[in-house]
Amino acid sequence: MKISQDTIDEIKSRVDIVDVVGEFLQLKKVGINYRAKSPFSNEKTPSFFIFPKNDNFKDFSSGKAGDAITFLMEYDGLNYVEAIRFLARKYGIEIQDEEQSPEQLQEQSERESLLILTNYAKDHYVNNLWEHEEGKRIGLNYFKERGFSEETIKKFELGYSLDQWDDLEKSALKAGYKKEFLEKTGLIVVKPASEEGGEEKSYDRFRGRVIFPIHNNTGKAIAFGARILTNDKKAPKYVNSPESDIYHKSKILYGIFQARRAIRSQDNCYLVEGYTDVISMHQCGVENVVASSGTSLTEEQIKSIGRLTENITVLFDGDEAGIKASMRGIDMILEQGLNVRALVFPDGDDPDSYAKKVGAFNFREYIKENSRDFLAFKTELFSKGAERDPIKKAETINNIVGSIAKIPDPVKRTVYIKETSVQLNIDEDVLIAELNKIILQRRRQKGQTRPEQLTEPMIELIEERESQKREEVDSLKLQERECIRLLICYGFNEIENKYRLHDHYLEELEGLEFTDGLHIEILETFKRNIEKGDVITADYFIKNGSDKVKKYVIDLISDQYEVSENWKRYSIFVPREIDVLDNSVYTNLLRFKFNRIKKLISNIKEDLKEETDMNKVEELLKIQMELDKAKLEFARPLGIVIS
Ligand code: UTP
Ligand code: MN
Repeated sequence: MKISQDTIDEIKSRVDIVDVVGEFLQLKKVGINYRAKSPFSNEKTPSFFIFPKNDNFKDFSSGKAGDAITFLMEYDGLNYVEAIRFLARKYGIEIQDEEQSPEQLQEQSERESLLILTNYAKDHYVNNLWEHEEGKRIGLNYFKERGFSEETIKKFELGYSLDQWDDLEKSALKAGYKKEFLEKTGLIVVKPASEEGGEEKSYDRFRGRVIFPIHNNTGKAIAFGARILTNDKKAPKYVNSPESDIYHKSKILYGIFQARRAIRSQDNCYLVEGYTDVISMHQCGVENVVASSGTSLTEEQIKSIGRLTENITVLFDGDEAGIKASMRGIDMILEQGLNVRALVFPDGDDPDSYAKKVGAFNFREYIKENSRDFLAFKTELFSKGAERDPIKKAETINNIVGSIAKIPDPVKRTVYIKETSVQLNIDEDVLIAELNKIILQRRRQKGQTRPEQLTEPMIELIEERESQKREEVDSLKLQERECIRLLICYGFNEIENKYRLHDHYLEELEGLEFTDGLHIEILETFKRNIEKGDVITADYFIKNGSDKVKKYVIDLISDQYEVSENWKRYSIFVPREIDVLDNSVYTNLLRFKFNRIKKLISNIKEDLKEETDMNKVEELLKIQMELDKAKLEFARPLGIVIS
């Protein structure tokens, strides 16, 4: 498998690393670089960077780094030659190479061997379908009768396994592949020798069936689904490859390779159940579609879609069982922070049968017109007849709010609560109360609740968003202001029955400077006086301060103790501030530090935009990760949910 140096050089000169990686990850441009969540680890702080200037990437969480070729090797387990081939295909460059000898085959690592063998088998099945008499007569005919075009059959590399016990095994052994690997990929089944003296037996797993190869992200076959051609109810409809070192069912989606580009360009992914649904939809001109292949959807599968788009549309079979089962899927998608739409086909049709019934144009129209946001979808589904039935209505609310509670982004949650309130004609407060109940319950189950949290109204689970930078600064200033207020109003008071409030503050604020000039000035004055042994109060500033300070302090002390509307609404007893000073100090300091950290993080993000030195980027990232961790620590006792 030799590729000439010329070809390699040509490929390298054509490759755009942003373009290549962008096929697999959702990249965000930051300054001159690109940034994404690491595909190699499960992280909160995106630490995967592309430096287009240097034509390379670095993943700071795993330490992996290199060019586009390295990326493909790391991301999809390709070897060097396969990565080159992938790029050649992508950029339309032709490569000539030589066949590998069996000796060369021996040298491959095991995983590679499994991949190569699986692709040999795929080629074998494809060849059967197009060249072999039985394959043409039975396999190809079957697909054509189902309405698959030759182009589609080739695109999905559909094949046929002859109705013989050892067709594949024989030909693979002859081509130099090891029996051990045939067994490990599940292509053959080996029955060990029995104690009664029976000999070891082996036979092909797939016989007399049409073959649907399952491809990985870069288009290598890693497993097969094989469909029966008869109506024999005793035999399983599909026989599938077992799990292996190269095939992890829970991680792969059928059709992802063929769909990837379209998912990115349409910024949406259709999710269906079966192989044939995917293929039929392609033929209808809808290419952004993948299948969970009969198994229930997994978190990893959703994440792999999430790298390409934030929008998933679930297409259900029309039958009741299918719908109910897929509800869990909707919640799982929401939990991953993605947007989900859904639709049902009429009369129990699935995408494949419906497409056949109405034709490509009508099919496309139908999914365009009928897919709706999960909220509208659920509301419609559950609220039938619920208007007059209070129990049913309560169930509906519970179900819908339960889904909303899965959404990590509180801003989105708020929007959905409002929307639900309109759709179901239910007071927003009722829904919020229900939402809080569920969130609290969930936290309690996770053991996240501290006693002091229970007393705090949970209405506002405020969340930080990058776009809310202005608000970020403001809330930091607000907390600084509150620090000052408590200091100059209650400086001499005792807290926790042991400290003077001012001692506590000055100690806690050590090393954390304020950001606002006026706040800095007031704090400095306060400190200078402490050094002289005086604990000054608001009066001092009003008498001696500059006009600006004077006005500010007057405003400050006339601030009413902030009574939240929600406290009033739920008739929660409102204590005097002096009686709950401990608590005010505690939350103020937490909030101040929380906001201070957020400010530091956003400063780092700014710095990262300009940075081209990899070592500096790494340094900044390390700090950011530490800060992200610290932020979580402060957020938890404040009841702030971080997505
Ligand atoms: P379906 O029964 O809907 O199959 O199962 P299908 O692909 O639509 O096939 P047709 O249209 O009847 O020919 C949905 C998916 O569930 C998995 C397969 O991945 C299938 O595509 N499945 C189903 C199995 O793995 N084994 C089975 O026996 C049945
Ligand atoms: Mn079907």
